[in-house]
Amino acid sequence: MPNVVAEKGSSLSAITRDPVRRVWLLRTPSSSYGLTLTGEDAPLNLHWGPPRTLPQVVALAGPDRVSPNSFEGADDGWEELPVDGGTRYGPAALQVRFADGTRAIEWAFLGSEITEAENGSTLRLNFTDRHYPLKIALFYRVLEGSDVIERWVELENSGGQERIEILRADSAAWSVPTRPAYRLSHVVGRWGAEFQLRRTELSSGETVLTSRRGITSHHANPWVMLDAGDAGEEHGEVWGAAFTWSGSWRITVARDPVDKVIFTGGFGHEGVRWFLEPGQKLRTPVFAGLYSPAGFGAASRGWHDYALRRILPHPEEVRPVLYNSWEATGFEVSESGQVELATRAAAIGIELFVMDDGWFGRRTSDRAGLGDWQVNRDRFPDGLEPLVHEVHRLGMKFGLWVEPEMVNPDSDLYREHPDWVLRFRNRRRSELRNQLVLNFADPAVSDWAFGWLTELVGDCRIDFLKWDMNRAFSEAGWPENTGDPDRLWIDHTRAVYRIMDRLRAEHPGLRIESCSGGGGRIDLGVLARTDQVWPSDNTDAFDRLLIQEGYSQLYPARAMTAWVTDNPHFVTGRRTRLEFRFHVAMTGVLGIGGDISSWSEHELAQARELIALYKDIRPVVQHGKLYRSPAAGSVQYVTDARTVVFVFAPTGHFGQSRPPVRVAGLDPEGSYRDEDTGVVHSGAVLLDRGLEISLPVGDYASAIVRLRRI
Ligand code: GLA
Repeated sequence: MPNVVAEKGSSLSAITRDPVRRVWLLRTPSSSYGLTLTGEDAPLNLHWGPPRTLPQVVALAGPDRVSPNSFEGADDGWEELPVDGGTRYGPAALQVRFADGTRAIEWAFLGSEITEAENGSTLRLNFTDRHYPLKIALFYRVLEGSDVIERWVELENSGGQERIEILRADSAAWSVPTRPAYRLSHVVGRWGAEFQLRRTELSSGETVLTSRRGITSHHANPWVMLDAGDAGEEHGEVWGAAFTWSGSWRITVARDPVDKVIFTGGFGHEGVRWFLEPGQKLRTPVFAGLYSPAGFGAASRGWHDYALRRILPHPEEVRPVLYNSWEATGFEVSESGQVELATRAAAIGIELFVMDDGWFGRRTSDRAGLGDWQVNRDRFPDGLEPLVHEVHRLGMKFGLWVEPEMVNPDSDLYREHPDWVLRFRNRRRSELRNQLVLNFADPAVSDWAFGWLTELVGDCRIDFLKWDMNRAFSEAGWPENTGDPDRLWIDHTRAVYRIMDRLRAEHPGLRIESCSGGGGRIDLGVLARTDQVWPSDNTDAFDRLLIQEGYSQLYPARAMTAWVTDNPHFVTGRRTRLEFRFHVAMTGVLGIGGDISSWSEHELAQARELIALYKDIRPVVQHGKLYRSPAAGSVQYVTDARTVVFVFAPTGHFGQSRPPVRVAGLDPEGSYRDEDTGVVHSGAVLLDRGLEISLPVGDYASAIVRLRRI
């Protein structure tokens, strides 16, 4: 029998170890994760898959592998954090250069610690380099009731004299078990077309998903899922990981010629370098992993549950129905115009009224004013107070758009502080949307931002901020910081986090939405300090179905803002039914972004009714479990007591009727009453044959069915 030790707790605790064989086992409700050390102390993966016992995982720890020939590394594809050094030829997760020019790392194991807290257990493996003063700690956290395993790394320069150059510091490498085939799921996009799901065979070689933009990006999102090509929504094994970071990032998925797959991920993109001064530590963000034995649907539900339990600051709340004035007014904002919109919004049941861009400085177009965060007195002669007061009087909360990290060169701020922006000597300052990026890594700049934000929120009684970020980085330099200039890629993002955290601490009632020209900054890092996110500036309901499907792979409906806007759509020119637009937006956090001052009485009445319906189903949508059925055009949200089924039929052929929609996540023994028709269905029938749903005739048809368990 192996010698099973859990430093605290029993052998049933989430983390156990066999100190003689140097094997550790992490257990979650539906998975387990095993690792060991090679004879040279390199940490190595043994198992990531179904629940196994410690003896079963110890049995996987054979003698050290040997290189099959003189061109291969023995352990490529299996290491927990493949370093640059020795006979390793895959992507390096940790790459450093010491002061004397040596680049390779050699592991020396110092010991492990297991700590148990109320909501989870943490394993820490301590290493040092065999010769140089570099300490490396690998962390693994298992959370009570969740299949997500959090991993991160801490580096420390434990020497007294010389600094260490960090060329790459990933948070974790995840080793996928050997399978006959591999498929990679991820999302791609651009402005107005975020979160398009791609599910393709993983090619041999290396696939790099990355953002070099200083933000998470519209173009890729920092997560991957892998399966053997045989998983579906509700069956098959899926291995995935998501990175909790909102700056530049890189995930490299490597498939070697003998079909071993590993992926490694962390902050920063290629070519950026950081330094660790003597005594300094660098802690990476969490790169969390999840094994699902039951398909992409179960994987998504695992991630949603993780976001609700561990990430979102107020998961228990339901998000209010909001109105946002951007598409209605553009930059043409005025006190009377906003009051008119607010009055109409309150009358149809809106709970949070958000004034978008154009309220400050000389911001009458996107050419000027960013950085001058004083209310525009031509537009709001008595400040924001009368509008905020009126919105509150109408029974709504008040939200405001801000874009703290930016400056228009045509602004008082830029004239006063031209050196506050990211820049290089002797290089142009490239503008995008007529704006430059403020260097938040510089404490003078981030202190200034926190100062005006906290004053604004406090003085004007702001309940909600839409925090926008409307351009990618360029010329990301800081000429005055000659010691470690690339650090700004990390420190800018950390400063944004710190400001959000401080704002929340000082104004506990404040709620924040993350926006970056749509979905440019959506990730688990920003979700930890915001309440909702804006997935896309493209509010066309038909396009949104795809964007939302991609979004939902990782992120919960509880945080997904979705607006109903006007016909024809400003991006696509498409016309869709109002009810269809509502139903699509009701699968997340419902908002209205259309110009309700031009809506007819009939449309307003319809809106009022649909908002009331949303408020009824909102707890199920925002807190229930999501089941997708893309083939049936359906999404469902399920709690113990209630189920809400959405069906979307944007178009059809030959006037054919649609097959019944099979309802998932129900108890076959249970009975379910249709809350609108009163008809009672058996759970087994709904699961096996499905529900007949009648849809209006014509394109952009949709329906909602509410079922209550009886
Ligand atoms: C970005 C946002 C929009 C709007 C504008 C305002 O594009 O994504 O929703 O706030 O900025 O300038």
